Amino acid sequence: MSDKQATLNAGGKDVTMAVRSGTIGPDVIDIRKMYADTGMFTYDPGFTSTASCDSAITYIDGDEGVLLHGGYPIGQLAEQSSFMEVSYLLLNGELPGKAELADFSRTISRHTMLHEQLMQFYRGFRRDAHPMAIMCGVVGALSAFYHDSTDIADPIHRKISSHRLIAKMPTIAAAAYKYSIGQPFVYPDNTLSYTGNFLRMTFGVPAEKYEVNPVVEKALDRIFILHADHEQNASTSTVRLAGSSGANPFACIAAGIACLWGPAHGGANEAALNMLQEIGTPDKIPHYIERAKDKNDPFRLMGFGHRVYKNYDPRATVMQQTVREVFESLKVTNPVFEVAIQLEEMALSDPYFIEKKLFPNVDFYSGVILSAIGFPTTMFTALFALARTVGWVAQWNEMISDPGQKIGRPRQLYTGPAQRDYVPVDKR
Ligand code: CMC
Repeated sequence: MSDKQATLNAGGKDVTMAVRSGTIGPDVIDIRKMYADTGMFTYDPGFTSTASCDSAITYIDGDEGVLLHGGYPIGQLAEQSSFMEVSYLLLNGELPGKAELADFSRTISRHTMLHEQLMQFYRGFRRDAHPMAIMCGVVGALSAFYHDSTDIADPIHRKISSHRLIAKMPTIAAAAYKYSIGQPFVYPDNTLSYTGNFLRMTFGVPAEKYEVNPVVEKALDRIFILHADHEQNASTSTVRLAGSSGANPFACIAAGIACLWGPAHGGANEAALNMLQEIGTPDKIPHYIERAKDKNDPFRLMGFGHRVYKNYDPRATVMQQTVREVFESLKVTNPVFEVAIQLEEMALSDPYFIEKKLFPNVDFYSGVILSAIGFPTTMFTALFALARTVGWVAQWNEMISDPGQKIGRPRQLYTGPAQRDYVPVDKR
Protein backbone atom coordinates (compact mmCIF):
# COMPACT_ATOMS: atom_id res chain seq x y z
CA MET A 1 0.00 0.00 0.00
CA SER A 2 1.45 3.40 -1.00
CA ASP A 3 1.67 6.15 1.59
CA LYS A 4 0.77 8.80 -1.01
CA GLN A 5 -2.33 10.81 -0.25
CA ALA A 6 -4.51 13.41 -1.93
CA THR A 7 -6.37 16.13 -0.07
CA LEU A 8 -9.65 17.61 -1.26
CA ASN A 9 -11.36 20.63 0.18
CA ALA A 10 -15.06 19.85 -0.20
CA GLY A 11 -18.21 20.53 1.79
CA GLY A 12 -16.24 22.97 3.95
CA LYS A 13 -13.65 20.47 5.14
CA ASP A 14 -10.37 18.95 4.08
CA VAL A 15 -10.66 15.30 3.29
CA THR A 16 -7.62 13.10 2.84
CA MET A 17 -7.80 10.18 0.47
CA ALA A 18 -5.38 7.34 -0.21
CA VAL A 19 -3.55 7.32 -3.53
CA ARG A 20 -2.95 3.88 -5.00
CA SER A 21 -0.24 2.96 -7.51
CA GLY A 22 -0.40 0.20 -10.10
CA THR A 23 2.58 -1.57 -11.68
CA ILE A 24 2.74 1.08 -14.42
CA GLY A 25 0.37 3.87 -15.44
CA PRO A 26 -1.22 6.76 -13.57
CA ASP A 27 -1.93 6.55 -9.85
CA VAL A 28 -5.56 6.60 -8.73
CA ILE A 29 -7.21 8.49 -5.89
CA ASP A 30 -9.33 6.16 -3.83
CA ILE A 31 -12.59 8.10 -3.45
CA ARG A 32 -14.69 5.29 -2.01
CA LYS A 33 -15.22 7.05 1.31
CA MET A 34 -15.75 10.47 -0.24
CA TYR A 35 -19.53 10.47 -0.04
CA ALA A 36 -19.47 9.40 3.60
CA ASP A 37 -16.86 12.09 4.41
CA THR A 38 -18.23 15.01 2.36
CA GLY A 39 -21.82 14.20 1.36
CA MET A 40 -20.76 14.73 -2.29
CA PHE A 41 -20.37 12.40 -5.23
CA THR A 42 -17.83 12.75 -8.01
CA TYR A 43 -19.20 13.46 -11.50
CA ASP A 44 -17.61 11.70 -14.47
CA PRO A 45 -20.04 10.73 -17.24
CA GLY A 46 -18.30 8.53 -19.78
CA PHE A 47 -15.69 7.58 -17.11
CA THR A 48 -13.01 9.82 -18.60
CA SER A 49 -11.15 10.03 -15.26
CA THR A 50 -12.49 7.07 -13.36
CA ALA A 51 -10.89 3.65 -12.84
CA SER A 52 -13.68 1.16 -12.18
CA CYS A 53 -11.61 -1.78 -10.96
CA ASP A 54 -8.18 -3.31 -10.32
CA SER A 55 -7.06 -5.43 -13.25
CA ALA A 56 -3.87 -7.38 -14.02
CA ILE A 57 -4.82 -8.44 -17.56
CA THR A 58 -4.17 -5.63 -20.04
CA TYR A 59 -2.36 -2.30 -19.92
CA ILE A 60 -2.73 0.60 -22.35
CA ASP A 61 -0.69 3.79 -22.52
CA GLY A 62 -2.79 5.83 -24.91
CA ASP A 63 -0.32 8.71 -25.18
CA GLU A 64 2.53 6.43 -26.21
CA GLY A 65 0.41 4.01 -28.24
CA VAL A 66 1.30 1.00 -26.06
CA LEU A 67 -0.86 -2.09 -25.54
CA LEU A 68 0.36 -4.94 -23.32
CA HIS A 69 -1.31 -8.23 -22.44
CA GLY A 70 0.23 -9.78 -19.33
CA GLY A 71 3.11 -7.35 -19.96
CA TYR A 72 3.76 -8.54 -23.52
CA PRO A 73 3.53 -5.90 -26.30
CA ILE A 74 0.73 -6.48 -28.80
CA GLY A 75 3.15 -6.20 -31.75
CA GLN A 76 5.22 -9.14 -30.44
CA LEU A 77 2.14 -11.23 -29.71
CA ALA A 78 0.62 -10.50 -33.15
CA GLU A 79 3.91 -11.35 -34.86
CA GLN A 80 4.99 -14.43 -32.90
CA SER A 81 2.09 -15.87 -30.96
CA SER A 82 -1.28 -17.46 -31.80
CA PHE A 83 -4.82 -16.63 -30.75
CA MET A 84 -5.00 -19.78 -28.60
CA GLU A 85 -1.77 -18.83 -26.82
CA VAL A 86 -2.95 -15.24 -26.25
CA SER A 87 -6.28 -16.60 -24.97
CA TYR A 88 -4.41 -18.74 -22.44
CA LEU A 89 -2.35 -15.72 -21.43
CA LEU A 90 -5.44 -13.56 -20.88
CA LEU A 91 -7.17 -16.25 -18.85
CA ASN A 92 -4.17 -17.31 -16.78
CA GLY A 93 -1.82 -14.32 -16.66
CA GLU A 94 1.16 -16.29 -18.03
CA LEU A 95 2.12 -17.73 -21.40
CA PRO A 96 1.57 -21.50 -21.49
CA GLY A 97 4.30 -24.11 -21.79
CA LYS A 98 4.14 -26.43 -24.81
CA ALA A 99 2.09 -29.10 -23.05
CA GLU A 100 -0.22 -26.53 -21.42
CA LEU A 101 -0.91 -24.94 -24.80
CA ALA A 102 -1.65 -28.29 -26.42
CA ASP A 103 -3.93 -29.20 -23.54
CA PHE A 104 -5.75 -25.86 -23.63
CA SER A 105 -6.23 -26.01 -27.43
CA ARG A 106 -7.55 -29.57 -27.10
CA THR A 107 -10.00 -28.51 -24.37
CA ILE A 108 -11.31 -25.63 -26.47
CA SER A 109 -11.70 -27.83 -29.53
CA ARG A 110 -13.77 -30.32 -27.48
CA HIS A 111 -16.40 -27.62 -26.85
CA THR A 112 -16.89 -26.36 -30.42
CA MET A 113 -20.25 -28.04 -31.11
CA LEU A 114 -23.56 -26.42 -30.22
CA HIS A 115 -26.47 -28.25 -28.63
CA GLU A 116 -28.42 -29.45 -31.65
CA GLN A 117 -31.61 -27.80 -30.41
CA LEU A 118 -29.82 -24.47 -30.30
CA MET A 119 -29.28 -24.79 -34.04
CA GLN A 120 -33.08 -24.63 -34.37
CA PHE A 121 -33.00 -21.10 -32.98
CA TYR A 122 -31.50 -19.78 -36.18
CA ARG A 123 -34.58 -20.72 -38.16
CA GLY A 124 -36.63 -18.32 -36.03
CA PHE A 125 -34.67 -15.35 -37.38
CA ARG A 126 -35.35 -13.59 -40.65
CA ARG A 127 -32.76 -14.45 -43.28
CA ASP A 128 -31.72 -10.80 -43.47
CA ALA A 129 -31.17 -10.49 -39.70
CA HIS A 130 -27.90 -8.79 -38.76
CA PRO A 131 -25.44 -11.41 -37.45
CA MET A 132 -25.00 -9.36 -34.26
CA ALA A 133 -28.76 -9.61 -33.59
CA ILE A 134 -28.46 -13.38 -33.93
CA MET A 135 -25.32 -13.48 -31.76
CA CYS A 136 -27.01 -11.53 -28.94
CA GLY A 137 -29.93 -13.96 -28.99
CA VAL A 138 -28.05 -17.23 -29.39
CA VAL A 139 -25.30 -16.43 -26.88
CA GLY A 140 -27.88 -15.32 -24.31
CA ALA A 141 -29.73 -18.59 -24.95
CA LEU A 142 -26.63 -20.66 -24.12
CA SER A 143 -27.56 -20.26 -20.45
CA ALA A 144 -30.71 -22.26 -21.14
CA PHE A 145 -28.64 -25.15 -22.50
CA TYR A 146 -25.60 -25.34 -20.26
CA HIS A 147 -27.06 -25.11 -16.73
CA ASP A 148 -24.32 -27.36 -15.45
CA SER A 149 -21.77 -24.51 -15.61
CA THR A 150 -23.66 -21.46 -14.38
CA ASP A 151 -22.79 -21.51 -10.66
CA ILE A 152 -20.56 -18.46 -10.70
CA ALA A 153 -19.28 -19.11 -7.16
CA ASP A 154 -17.67 -22.35 -8.36
CA PRO A 155 -14.30 -21.76 -10.12
CA ILE A 156 -14.68 -25.02 -12.07
CA HIS A 157 -18.05 -23.90 -13.41
CA ARG A 158 -16.54 -20.55 -14.36
CA LYS A 159 -13.70 -22.28 -16.17
CA ILE A 160 -16.02 -24.59 -18.11
CA SER A 161 -18.30 -21.69 -19.09
CA SER A 162 -15.30 -19.68 -20.22
CA HIS A 163 -14.07 -22.54 -22.38
CA ARG A 164 -17.54 -23.11 -23.78
CA LEU A 165 -17.93 -19.47 -24.73
CA ILE A 166 -14.52 -19.22 -26.43
CA ALA A 167 -15.07 -22.53 -28.25
CA LYS A 168 -18.66 -22.02 -29.38
CA MET A 169 -18.37 -18.44 -30.58
CA PRO A 170 -16.87 -19.37 -34.00
CA THR A 171 -19.61 -21.96 -34.51
CA ILE A 172 -22.29 -19.42 -33.55
CA ALA A 173 -20.87 -16.67 -35.78
CA ALA A 174 -20.33 -18.98 -38.77
CA ALA A 175 -23.86 -20.37 -38.44
CA ALA A 176 -25.26 -16.81 -38.42
CA TYR A 177 -23.48 -16.24 -41.73
CA LYS A 178 -24.55 -19.54 -43.27
CA TYR A 179 -28.15 -18.86 -42.30
CA SER A 180 -28.07 -15.43 -43.94
CA ILE A 181 -26.97 -16.88 -47.29
CA GLY A 182 -29.22 -19.92 -47.14
CA GLN A 183 -26.43 -22.51 -47.05
CA PRO A 184 -26.39 -25.52 -44.72
CA PHE A 185 -24.58 -25.15 -41.41
CA VAL A 186 -21.09 -26.64 -41.47
CA TYR A 187 -20.23 -28.51 -38.29
CA PRO A 188 -16.86 -28.01 -36.60
CA ASP A 189 -13.81 -30.05 -37.58
CA ASN A 190 -11.65 -30.35 -34.50
CA THR A 191 -8.60 -31.48 -36.46
CA LEU A 192 -8.24 -27.88 -37.65
CA SER A 193 -6.87 -24.91 -35.73
CA TYR A 194 -9.31 -22.58 -33.95
CA THR A 195 -9.12 -20.11 -36.83
CA GLY A 196 -8.94 -22.71 -39.62
CA ASN A 197 -12.03 -24.36 -38.22
CA PHE A 198 -13.87 -21.04 -38.25
CA LEU A 199 -12.86 -20.38 -41.87
CA ARG A 200 -14.14 -23.80 -42.89
CA MET A 201 -17.44 -23.39 -41.02
CA THR A 202 -17.87 -20.00 -42.72
CA PHE A 203 -16.70 -20.61 -46.28
CA GLY A 204 -16.87 -24.39 -46.65
CA VAL A 205 -19.87 -26.37 -47.88
CA PRO A 206 -20.74 -29.98 -47.03
CA ALA A 207 -20.55 -30.94 -50.71
CA GLU A 208 -16.86 -30.09 -51.13
CA LYS A 209 -13.58 -30.48 -49.30
CA TYR A 210 -12.42 -27.15 -47.92
CA GLU A 211 -8.71 -26.33 -47.98
CA VAL A 212 -7.69 -23.73 -45.40
CA ASN A 213 -5.42 -21.10 -46.99
CA PRO A 214 -2.51 -20.77 -44.52
CA VAL A 215 -1.94 -17.06 -45.29
CA VAL A 216 -5.59 -16.24 -44.64
CA GLU A 217 -5.59 -18.45 -41.54
CA LYS A 218 -2.56 -16.65 -40.14
CA ALA A 219 -3.94 -13.20 -40.99
CA LEU A 220 -7.29 -13.93 -39.38
CA ASP A 221 -5.64 -15.45 -36.33
CA ARG A 222 -3.64 -12.23 -36.01
CA ILE A 223 -6.82 -10.16 -36.32
CA PHE A 224 -8.29 -12.25 -33.49
CA ILE A 225 -5.17 -11.52 -31.38
CA LEU A 226 -5.52 -7.79 -32.07
CA HIS A 227 -9.13 -7.83 -30.85
CA ALA A 228 -8.73 -10.23 -27.93
CA ASP A 229 -8.82 -7.69 -25.09
CA HIS A 230 -8.61 -3.96 -24.56
CA GLU A 231 -9.00 -3.39 -20.80
CA GLN A 232 -12.07 -1.51 -19.53
CA ASN A 233 -13.70 -0.51 -22.85
CA ALA A 234 -17.48 -0.09 -23.16
CA SER A 235 -18.39 -3.72 -23.86
CA THR A 236 -15.99 -5.12 -21.24
CA SER A 237 -17.35 -2.70 -18.67
CA THR A 238 -20.84 -3.82 -19.70
CA VAL A 239 -19.86 -7.45 -19.10
CA ARG A 240 -18.40 -6.55 -15.71
CA LEU A 241 -21.45 -4.49 -14.72
CA ALA A 242 -23.86 -7.23 -15.81
CA GLY A 243 -21.71 -9.81 -14.02
CA SER A 244 -21.51 -7.75 -10.84
CA SER A 245 -25.15 -8.62 -10.11
CA GLY A 246 -24.29 -12.31 -10.17
CA ALA A 247 -25.82 -12.91 -13.63
CA ASN A 248 -24.62 -16.05 -15.42
CA PRO A 249 -21.67 -15.74 -17.82
CA PHE A 250 -23.64 -16.43 -20.99
CA ALA A 251 -26.07 -13.61 -20.19
CA CYS A 252 -23.14 -11.28 -19.39
CA ILE A 253 -21.38 -12.00 -22.68
CA ALA A 254 -24.67 -11.44 -24.56
CA ALA A 255 -24.79 -7.99 -22.88
CA GLY A 256 -21.20 -7.36 -24.04
CA ILE A 257 -22.14 -8.31 -27.61
CA ALA A 258 -25.06 -5.86 -27.53
CA CYS A 259 -22.76 -3.05 -26.40
CA LEU A 260 -20.05 -3.92 -28.92
CA TRP A 261 -22.54 -3.63 -31.79
CA GLY A 262 -22.67 0.20 -31.66
CA PRO A 263 -20.82 2.17 -34.38
CA ALA A 264 -18.72 4.06 -31.81
CA HIS A 265 -17.32 0.70 -30.62
CA GLY A 266 -17.14 -2.63 -32.50
CA GLY A 267 -19.52 -1.50 -35.21
CA ALA A 268 -16.86 0.94 -36.42
CA ASN A 269 -15.13 -1.66 -38.64
CA GLU A 270 -18.31 -2.11 -40.66
CA ALA A 271 -18.90 1.65 -40.72
CA ALA A 272 -15.27 2.32 -41.74
CA LEU A 273 -15.42 0.04 -44.78
CA ASN A 274 -18.81 1.46 -45.79
CA MET A 275 -17.28 4.93 -45.54
CA LEU A 276 -14.22 3.98 -47.63
CA GLN A 277 -16.46 2.45 -50.27
CA GLU A 278 -18.67 5.53 -50.28
CA ILE A 279 -15.60 7.75 -50.75
CA GLY A 280 -14.68 5.43 -53.62
CA THR A 281 -11.81 7.37 -55.22
CA PRO A 282 -8.94 9.41 -53.75
CA ASP A 283 -10.14 12.67 -55.36
CA LYS A 284 -13.23 12.65 -53.08
CA ILE A 285 -11.18 12.41 -49.87
CA PRO A 286 -10.85 16.18 -49.25
CA HIS A 287 -14.64 16.55 -49.33
CA TYR A 288 -15.05 13.87 -46.63
CA ILE A 289 -12.28 15.36 -44.51
CA GLU A 290 -14.07 18.71 -44.62
CA ARG A 291 -17.32 17.01 -43.61
CA ALA A 292 -15.60 15.30 -40.66
CA LYS A 293 -14.35 18.68 -39.46
CA ASP A 294 -17.71 20.43 -39.83
CA LYS A 295 -19.39 20.70 -36.41
CA ASN A 296 -22.81 20.96 -38.11
CA ASP A 297 -22.33 17.69 -39.96
CA PRO A 298 -22.73 14.50 -37.87
CA PHE A 299 -20.27 12.68 -40.19
CA ARG A 300 -17.08 11.42 -38.51
CA LEU A 301 -14.13 9.63 -40.04
CA MET A 302 -14.93 6.09 -38.99
CA GLY A 303 -11.89 4.14 -37.79
CA PHE A 304 -10.33 7.37 -36.55
CA GLY A 305 -9.99 8.59 -32.98
CA HIS A 306 -10.04 6.73 -29.71
CA ARG A 307 -10.97 7.49 -26.13
CA VAL A 308 -7.62 6.23 -24.85
CA TYR A 309 -5.15 6.37 -27.77
CA LYS A 310 -3.96 9.88 -28.45
CA ASN A 311 -1.30 8.37 -30.70
CA TYR A 312 -1.27 5.72 -33.44
CA ASP A 313 -3.26 2.69 -32.22
CA PRO A 314 -0.57 -0.06 -32.14
CA ARG A 315 -3.17 -2.50 -33.44
CA ALA A 316 -3.69 -0.34 -36.54
CA THR A 317 0.05 -0.60 -37.37
CA VAL A 318 -0.11 -4.41 -37.37
CA MET A 319 -3.39 -4.32 -39.25
CA GLN A 320 -1.95 -2.17 -42.03
CA GLN A 321 0.98 -4.61 -42.50
CA THR A 322 -1.44 -7.54 -42.53
CA VAL A 323 -3.54 -5.94 -45.29
CA ARG A 324 -0.46 -5.74 -47.48
CA GLU A 325 0.45 -9.40 -46.83
CA VAL A 326 -3.05 -10.68 -47.56
CA PHE A 327 -3.45 -8.53 -50.67
CA GLU A 328 -0.12 -9.77 -52.04
CA SER A 329 -0.85 -13.40 -51.26
CA LEU A 330 -4.42 -13.38 -52.60
CA LYS A 331 -3.39 -11.10 -55.47
CA VAL A 332 -6.18 -8.73 -54.52
CA THR A 333 -6.25 -5.22 -55.90
CA ASN A 334 -8.87 -3.09 -54.25
CA PRO A 335 -9.15 0.67 -54.74
CA VAL A 336 -10.55 0.91 -51.20
CA PHE A 337 -7.08 0.16 -49.76
CA GLU A 338 -5.59 3.02 -51.78
CA VAL A 339 -8.37 5.31 -50.52
CA ALA A 340 -7.60 4.20 -46.94
CA ILE A 341 -3.85 4.88 -47.30
CA GLN A 342 -4.41 8.33 -48.81
CA LEU A 343 -7.17 9.24 -46.37
CA GLU A 344 -4.87 8.36 -43.48
CA GLU A 345 -2.05 10.47 -44.95
CA MET A 346 -4.28 13.47 -45.52
CA ALA A 347 -5.97 13.31 -42.14
CA LEU A 348 -2.66 12.92 -40.31
CA SER A 349 -1.34 16.11 -41.90
CA ASP A 350 -4.52 18.11 -41.25
CA PRO A 351 -4.38 20.53 -38.26
CA TYR A 352 -7.86 19.45 -37.05
CA PHE A 353 -6.78 15.83 -36.63
CA ILE A 354 -3.33 16.79 -35.33
CA GLU A 355 -4.72 19.12 -32.64
CA LYS A 356 -7.35 16.65 -31.51
CA LYS A 357 -4.84 13.79 -31.63
CA LEU A 358 -7.05 11.68 -33.89
CA PHE A 359 -5.19 8.69 -35.36
CA PRO A 360 -6.35 5.55 -37.18
CA ASN A 361 -7.64 2.92 -34.77
CA VAL A 362 -7.82 -0.87 -35.16
CA ASP A 363 -11.01 -0.62 -37.19
CA PHE A 364 -9.63 1.59 -39.93
CA TYR A 365 -7.92 -1.26 -41.80
CA SER A 366 -9.69 -4.31 -40.40
CA GLY A 367 -12.68 -3.94 -42.72
CA VAL A 368 -10.44 -3.76 -45.79
CA ILE A 369 -8.73 -7.02 -44.90
CA LEU A 370 -11.86 -8.88 -43.78
CA SER A 371 -13.57 -7.98 -47.01
CA ALA A 372 -10.55 -9.22 -49.02
CA ILE A 373 -10.83 -12.54 -47.17
CA GLY A 374 -14.47 -12.73 -48.27
CA PHE A 375 -16.49 -11.69 -45.23
CA PRO A 376 -19.51 -9.46 -45.88
CA THR A 377 -19.48 -6.18 -43.92
CA THR A 378 -22.27 -7.33 -41.63
CA MET A 379 -19.97 -10.08 -40.28
CA PHE A 380 -17.17 -7.71 -39.26
CA THR A 381 -18.53 -6.87 -35.83
CA ALA A 382 -19.46 -10.52 -35.27
CA LEU A 383 -15.78 -11.38 -35.82
CA PHE A 384 -14.79 -8.72 -33.30
CA ALA A 385 -17.25 -10.27 -30.80
CA LEU A 386 -15.81 -13.73 -31.45
CA ALA A 387 -12.28 -12.55 -30.70
CA ARG A 388 -13.21 -10.29 -27.77
CA THR A 389 -15.05 -13.10 -25.99
CA VAL A 390 -11.83 -14.30 -24.38
CA GLY A 391 -11.13 -10.79 -23.05
CA TRP A 392 -14.67 -10.54 -21.71
CA VAL A 393 -14.52 -13.87 -19.92
CA ALA A 394 -11.03 -13.16 -18.55
CA GLN A 395 -12.21 -9.82 -17.15
CA TRP A 396 -15.44 -11.33 -15.83
CA ASN A 397 -13.49 -14.11 -14.10
CA GLU A 398 -11.08 -11.62 -12.60
CA MET A 399 -14.00 -9.62 -11.20
CA ILE A 400 -15.86 -12.61 -9.75
CA SER A 401 -12.65 -13.94 -8.16
CA ASP A 402 -12.03 -10.61 -6.41
CA PRO A 403 -13.22 -10.99 -2.78
CA GLY A 404 -13.88 -7.23 -2.60
CA GLN A 405 -16.21 -7.31 -5.61
CA LYS A 406 -19.51 -5.40 -5.22
CA ILE A 407 -22.47 -4.85 -7.48
CA GLY A 408 -21.70 -1.94 -9.86
CA ARG A 409 -23.97 0.96 -9.03
CA PRO A 410 -23.02 4.46 -10.27
CA ARG A 411 -24.60 7.53 -8.68
CA GLN A 412 -26.08 10.54 -10.49
CA LEU A 413 -26.57 14.29 -10.44
CA TYR A 414 -30.35 14.57 -10.32
CA THR A 415 -31.74 17.40 -12.51
CA GLY A 416 -35.48 16.55 -12.51
CA PRO A 417 -38.25 18.26 -10.51
CA ALA A 418 -37.90 18.45 -6.73
CA GLN A 419 -40.59 16.73 -4.65
CA ARG A 420 -44.14 17.93 -5.48
CA ASP A 421 -47.68 16.79 -4.73
CA TYR A 422 -49.71 14.61 -7.04
CA VAL A 423 -52.60 16.41 -8.76
CA PRO A 424 -55.60 14.26 -9.84
CA VAL A 425 -56.01 14.12 -13.63
CA ASP A 426 -59.29 16.17 -13.69
CA LYS A 427 -57.52 19.02 -11.88
CA ARG A 428 -54.51 19.25 -14.26
N1 CMC B 1 -13.84 12.27 -36.95
C1 CMC B 1 -13.93 13.59 -36.73
N2 CMC B 1 -13.84 14.17 -35.52
C2 CMC B 1 -13.66 13.36 -34.46
C3 CMC B 1 -13.55 11.96 -34.59
C4 CMC B 1 -13.66 11.41 -35.89
N3 CMC B 1 -13.56 10.10 -36.07
N4 CMC B 1 -13.39 11.42 -33.38
C5 CMC B 1 -13.39 12.42 -32.49
N5 CMC B 1 -13.55 13.61 -33.15
C6 CMC B 1 -13.56 14.93 -32.54
C7 CMC B 1 -14.87 15.20 -31.84
O1 CMC B 1 -15.80 15.85 -32.69
C8 CMC B 1 -14.45 16.06 -30.69
O2 CMC B 1 -14.28 17.38 -31.16
P1 CMC B 1 -14.57 18.64 -30.17
O3 CMC B 1 -13.58 18.51 -29.06
O4 CMC B 1 -14.35 19.82 -31.05
O5 CMC B 1 -15.99 18.47 -29.70
C9 CMC B 1 -13.06 15.55 -30.32
O6 CMC B 1 -12.56 14.93 -31.52
C10 CMC B 1 -13.06 14.51 -29.21
O7 CMC B 1 -13.99 13.49 -29.54
P2 CMC B 1 -14.96 12.77 -28.52
O8 CMC B 1 -16.11 12.19 -29.25
O9 CMC B 1 -15.26 13.71 -27.38
O10 CMC B 1 -13.98 11.65 -28.00
P3 CMC B 1 -14.40 10.30 -27.30
O11 CMC B 1 -13.22 9.84 -26.56
O12 CMC B 1 -15.67 10.47 -26.53
O13 CMC B 1 -14.75 9.34 -28.54
C11 CMC B 1 -14.58 7.75 -30.27
C12 CMC B 1 -13.90 8.37 -29.03
C13 CMC B 1 -13.82 6.49 -30.67
C14 CMC B 1 -16.02 7.34 -29.93
C15 CMC B 1 -14.56 8.79 -31.41
O14 CMC B 1 -13.23 9.17 -31.74
C16 CMC B 1 -15.31 8.32 -32.65
O15 CMC B 1 -16.53 8.44 -32.73
N6 CMC B 1 -14.55 7.72 -33.65
C17 CMC B 1 -15.19 7.14 -34.80
C18 CMC B 1 -15.73 5.76 -34.44
C19 CMC B 1 -14.63 4.74 -34.31
O16 CMC B 1 -13.73 4.65 -35.13
N7 CMC B 1 -14.75 3.91 -33.25
C20 CMC B 1 -13.82 2.78 -33.01
C21 CMC B 1 -13.03 2.93 -31.76
S1 CMC B 1 -11.69 1.74 -31.68
C22 CMC B 1 -12.44 0.22 -31.57
C23 CMC B 1 -13.16 -0.02 -30.30
O17 CMC B 1 -12.58 0.21 -29.23
O18 CMC B 1 -14.29 -0.45 -30.35
